[in-house]
Amino acid sequence: MPEIASGQSPEAIDQAVALLRAGRLIGLPTETVYGLAADADNPDAVRQVFTAKGRPADHPLIVHLGADDLLTHYARDIPDAAWTLAEAFWPGPLTMILKKAPDVPDVVTGGQDTVGVRMPGHPVALSLLRAFAEAQRQAGKAGGGLAAPSANRFGRISPTTAQHVADELGDAVPFILDGDDCQVGIESTIVDLSRGKPIILRPGAVSAAQLSLVLGEPVAMQSAVASEPPRVSGSLASHYAPQTPLKVGDAEMIAQALQQSQRIAAIVRDDAGLKSQPNVVVLANHPAAYAHDLYRVLRELDAGGYFQILVQALPDSVAWAAVQDRLNRAAHRDGLDKP
Ligand code: TXA
Ligand code: MG
Repeated sequence: MPEIASGQSPEAIDQAVALLRAGRLIGLPTETVYGLAADADNPDAVRQVFTAKGRPADHPLIVHLGADDLLTHYARDIPDAAWTLAEAFWPGPLTMILKKAPDVPDVVTGGQDTVGVRMPGHPVALSLLRAFAEAQRQAGKAGGGLAAPSANRFGRISPTTAQHVADELGDAVPFILDGDDCQVGIESTIVDLSRGKPIILRPGAVSAAQLSLVLGEPVAMQSAVASEPPRVSGSLASHYAPQTPLKVGDAEMIAQALQQSQRIAAIVRDDAGLKSQPNVVVLANHPAAYAHDLYRVLRELDAGGYFQILVQALPDSVAWAAVQDRLNRAAHRDGLDKP
């Protein structure tokens, strides 16, 4: 099994930098979910990410940066909007899609002419990114970004603890930095700035309203404007599914189903009037708190041997859009794991 070391320890950061510089992978905590990181400028290292995840080669990775000025190494024709958003939301749970710089390896971008970039807001991720970029600089190498998808096997639930990463990937990752459980708990907002108008490809903790406010123009969700197929692997309908069938229903339906079978598990909100017990998890009726716990709870119930997981329907409000998106995907089992 992989070694798990505290991300607070300078020795652990040094060890992670050494592994990355040797072309190896490491598990990395971020404020959203854990990532599986490789040197973004080393195509052989990045290829191992795809092997470890079982991810199809045409699904692009996000490049994580420890400093804004690295943007120009990975992206070109950077619009003012990108600098404005970086200033407002980095470090934080926002990924921007920009035109890629010529030197970015094709394996990072899945052969596309764009690249996803983000500066994560987790202190361990930032200290690693800064130490890695500095080590590369001292060695006379350009770059210093880390290509990192979520550290789960393709099509499975993203990990929110170091132990989840070990459970998902086993020996495919030699070393995991532990940064406790992820504060946000669901993946970053992805906004595409490469095609003129900003478009959200994946909703997350940074909302459309926040982006619109900072940019001074409306920012739409891709689904509302899409004429071409989405380019985000996270937009596969089944992308975050647990193995246990998952169904959404109202509190009353769930209460009845629970009386009929002990092999049913449920996730409800604290307004449902149901008590927590081994097969019933009560989550806070607040989107950020709910997002923080959702993947961990899905993972735990998925391992519980239940034949179905019922989830109380979420309030129909934009505040819940990102959580709603992940729940829809988890409930959708057709074509699981198919690109
Ligand atoms: O919160 C996050 O974003 C986490 C942490 C580790 O940073 N990362 C993450 O990576 O969720 P991943 O690979 O699981 O999802 C990234 C998504 C993918 O769906 C990918 O298709 C999309 O970003 N993406 C990356 N580069 C892209 C590009 N050039 N164009 C369109 N989509 C892109
Ligand atoms: Mg993922």
